[in-house]
Amino acid sequence: MNIMKFHNDEDFVQTGASLVASLLQSNPKAVLGLATGSSPIGVYERLVQMYRGGLVSFAKASSYNLDEYVGLPTDHPETYRSFMNKHLFSHIDIDLSRTHVPNGSAKDLEAECLAYDQMLESNGPVDLQILGIGSNGHIGFNEPDAGLSSGTHVVDLLQATREANARFFPSIDDVPRQAITMGVGSILKARQILLLVRGAEKAEAIRNAVQGPITTQCPASLLQTHPNVVVLLDEGAGQWLK
Ligand code: F6R
Repeated sequence: MNIMKFHNDEDFVQTGASLVASLLQSNPKAVLGLATGSSPIGVYERLVQMYRGGLVSFAKASSYNLDEYVGLPTDHPETYRSFMNKHLFSHIDIDLSRTHVPNGSAKDLEAECLAYDQMLESNGPVDLQILGIGSNGHIGFNEPDAGLSSGTHVVDLLQATREANARFFPSIDDVPRQAITMGVGSILKARQILLLVRGAEKAEAIRNAVQGPITTQCPASLLQTHPNVVVLLDEGAGQWLK
């Protein structure tokens, strides 16, 4: 793992965005694996600036998002599809028909998961997978458990995860109870992984993930088995790293 700690936000986002931009410069048809959440927002903003400055184009790229809530209408402002439109897709030249987010309002969720895996199988592998990490070590919505699913699947969200996401909803009761997520096996198929971690509240989770035992109780620790992971930490998340 290549772990980098940044003392200022500018360097953090520039490093993350540059990795994505240089991939697109060398491979305009790159397949991007994307995450939502607060961690990648600065990187997406920088990519939008780079696109506007003519430094990068997404015109031939395609994308697959990690996850989506179950049960929210697609145009609900808190779906991950809406998040991606708001923070990235609406501001760049990506062809929306080549952007993929699991459909959490599909009538047959099992069929949706299968179809998502089949798309990943035929159009992948993902060249660069962006990830964040939950305070409990989750990646995507793969929560700590005795076992982990490999492919895309439906998960019941833990109360801790619902509480962490409640800030985006009028009340905790409005936070969906389930989500569709790519499995850890699918995530690990990416050629390269870029894990973005910000905030002191993530310090313990990321430390366990990179230095602790490989265990399904910390899904991010499975990243230790991947040959090409870049971890960007801000000061808070990397407080344990001298
Ligand atoms: C988002 C996702 C989640 C987040 C994680 C960290 O698509 O899959 O695993 O990456 O919950 O979220 P933030 O960045 O909001 O702390």
